[in-house]
Amino acid sequence: MRPTALITGASGGIGYEFAHLFAKAGYHLIIVARSEDKLRELQDELGDHPVTVIVEDLSKQGAAKRIYDVVHRHELTVEVLVNNAGFGLNGDFDSINLKEQQDMLQVNINALTELTYYFLPDMKKAPLFDIPKGILNISSTAAFQPGPKMAVYYASKAYVLSFSEALVEELQGTGITVTTLCPGATETNFFKRANAENTKLTKSQMTADDVAKAGFLGFVKGKRVVVPGALNTSAAVMSKFLPRSTTAKIAHYIDKE
Ligand SMILES: NC(=O)c1ccc[n+]([C@@H]2O[C@H](COP(=O)([O-])OP(=O)(O)OC[C@H]3O[C@@H](n4cnc5c(N)ncnc54)[C@H](OP(=O)(O)O)[C@@H]3O)[C@@H](O)[C@H]2O)c1
Repeated sequence: MRPTALITGASGGIGYEFAHLFAKAGYHLIIVARSEDKLRELQDELGDHPVTVIVEDLSKQGAAKRIYDVVHRHELTVEVLVNNAGFGLNGDFDSINLKEQQDMLQVNINALTELTYYFLPDMKKAPLFDIPKGILNISSTAAFQPGPKMAVYYASKAYVLSFSEALVEELQGTGITVTTLCPGATETNFFKRANAENTKLTKSQMTADDVAKAGFLGFVKGKRVVVPGALNTSAAVMSKFLPRSTTAKIAHYIDKE
């Protein structure tokens, strides 16, 4: 029997790369996103590999429970939960549509929290395979400082990091690891959707493939936090020593054209 990895946001970007990596490692995949056509394409690419497609909008109330129920109907147990789906919105806080910002909080924070809540008890009961069971949460280098012009997004990613690091401690001795991946700018659809394509944020980007590989490797090794790339690592270290008023100013500067 294969262990199962559920990956949200697998229809593109970093999540798509995760799907390939977890498939190669032998996991049965459950892939989740809104774009059914892209999920089906991914399923086709993976050929005979066992893949379950769940089309769900994580910004909708009750999405996490619906996903949990579908997984149970398929008689699957999730050994690995990859909370990857997420998006950002760029602009002055009070100029961005409130409903869109609430949807962002729902996807980046609530869906991630609820999926973890529903699947964790089953993960605890699941037998140990020779490949790990655990949670891989996708945060961002945005977690390390306030982010003017993307205030809600940066704050949402700080939540993901704090929540995940707390779970690491709670889950000691259970065999469940929690890894937080904190990518910096990455070549995906992220900046287009965020309306941030013309900012300095996009000047130096890693590939989604490299970012996912770093996250996957960190997860397999049971690392708490993974910051991929030398530039992102130095920025993360720097943010520990500078006053938050200064790191907020730097983030504001980088968000400009
Ligand atoms: N790219 C970067 O520079 C960067 C940097 C740091 C962290 N991150 C984080 O990395 C993660 C992946 O983003 P990405 O860069 O790969 O961006 P992406 O290419 O835009 O992919 C986002 C994924 O999330 C899914 N998604 C978005 N809204 C959703 C919703 N309402 N319901 C269900 N699925 C939804 C999308 O699928 P559908 O559109 O098909 O629903 C897509 O599969 C995010 O958490 C992001 O915050 C990205």
